[in-house]
Amino acid sequence: MSIDQIKVIGILGAGQMGGGIAQVVAQSGRTALLADVDRARAEAGKAKIAKSLGRRVDKGKLEASARDELLERIVPVDGVDAFVDAPFVIEAATENIELKKKLIAGLDAACGPDTIVATNTSSISITLLGAETQRPHKMVGMHFMNPVPIMKLVEIIRALPTDDATYETTVALAKDLGKTVITAGDSPGFIVNRILIPFLNEACFALQESIGTPQDIDTGAKLGLNHPMGPLELADLIGLDTCLAIADVLHRELGDDKYRAANILRMHVAAGWLGRKTGRGFYNYAK
Ligand code: CAA
Repeated sequence: MSIDQIKVIGILGAGQMGGGIAQVVAQSGRTALLADVDRARAEAGKAKIAKSLGRRVDKGKLEASARDELLERIVPVDGVDAFVDAPFVIEAATENIELKKKLIAGLDAACGPDTIVATNTSSISITLLGAETQRPHKMVGMHFMNPVPIMKLVEIIRALPTDDATYETTVALAKDLGKTVITAGDSPGFIVNRILIPFLNEACFALQESIGTPQDIDTGAKLGLNHPMGPLELADLIGLDTCLAIADVLHRELGDDKYRAANILRMHVAAGWLGRKTGRGFYNYAK
C-alpha cells in the first residue's frame, strides 16, 4: 500500500500517547479518527489536544486558523466500528497485555481485510498480539515517544509474521509524519525501553536507598549526563503505572532479576500516585 492511500488513520486510545499520535496524524494532513472506551473519553482526549495547541497559539507559535483546521481533522468516534474504511489503525491503549489482546482482536474484527494494524505498545511482543488476529502478517509495532508531537523517534517492530509490505508502509508513514525511524527486533521493551526502563528503575532504587533526594537524583542526570529531564521527573511524565508495567514485562520475559522493579515504584502505583497525570508521583503537581 502506498502512503498516499492512507488518508484516514484510526487511533484507539485517547490518552497522552493516542492524543499525541492523533495530533501528528492531523498535522500530516490526514484525518485521525479517535476512539476510546466511549465517545466522551474520545472527546476529552481531543479537548486536551486543543488545550495544548491553544498554548502554542497564545505563544505566537501557531496561527489560530491552522489550529482550527488541524482540530477539524481529529474526529472523536463512538468506537472502533468507525474504523471500517481506515487503511491503517494504531492501538494506543494502556500497557496491559490482556487489555491489548482484547483490543487488537476487536480491531481485527472491525477493520477491512487489507487494513494494517499497528500497536504503540512499549514492551509487549508484537508477535503475541498479532496472534490475536486473522492478519498476523499485517500486524506491526509502531512505538512513538512521549511527548509525541515533540519527540522525533518512532521505533518500528516487525513481528515474526509481519510481511515486507506492512513493514515498508509503516516505515514510510512514520517518516511522512516527520519522524526518524529505527527498527527493533520483537524482544521485550524493544530498543528504547530495554535501555530506558532499567535506568529509571535504578533511579528508583537510588531514591529507595536514600542515596539522594529526588531533586539530587534528577539534577545528577540533568547536569552530570546532560539529559533534558531527570529520571524521576521523566518517570512522572511517562506515568509510573506504565513504567512499572514495562519493568514487569522485562523482568518476566527476560527472566533476569536485574530487571525487578524497585518497591518504591510499585508502592507509588499502588497508592495511585502515577505521576503528572494524577497530580502526584515522585513530585507533587497539585496546583
Ligand atoms: N505540539 C507541537 N509542538 C509542541 C507541543 C505540542 N503539543 N508542545 C510543545 N511544543 C513545542 C514548543 O512550542 C517548543 O517549541 P519551540 O522550540 O519552537 O519553542 C518545543 O516543542 C519544546 O517545548 P517546551 O519548551 O515546552 O519543552 P522543553 O524545552 O521544556 O522540553 C521536553 C520538554 C521535550 C519534554 C524535554 O524535557 C525532553 O526532551 N524530555 C525528555 C523526554 C523523553 O525522554 N521522552 C521519551 C520518554 S520514553 C517514551 O516515551 C517511551 C516509552 O514507551 C516509555
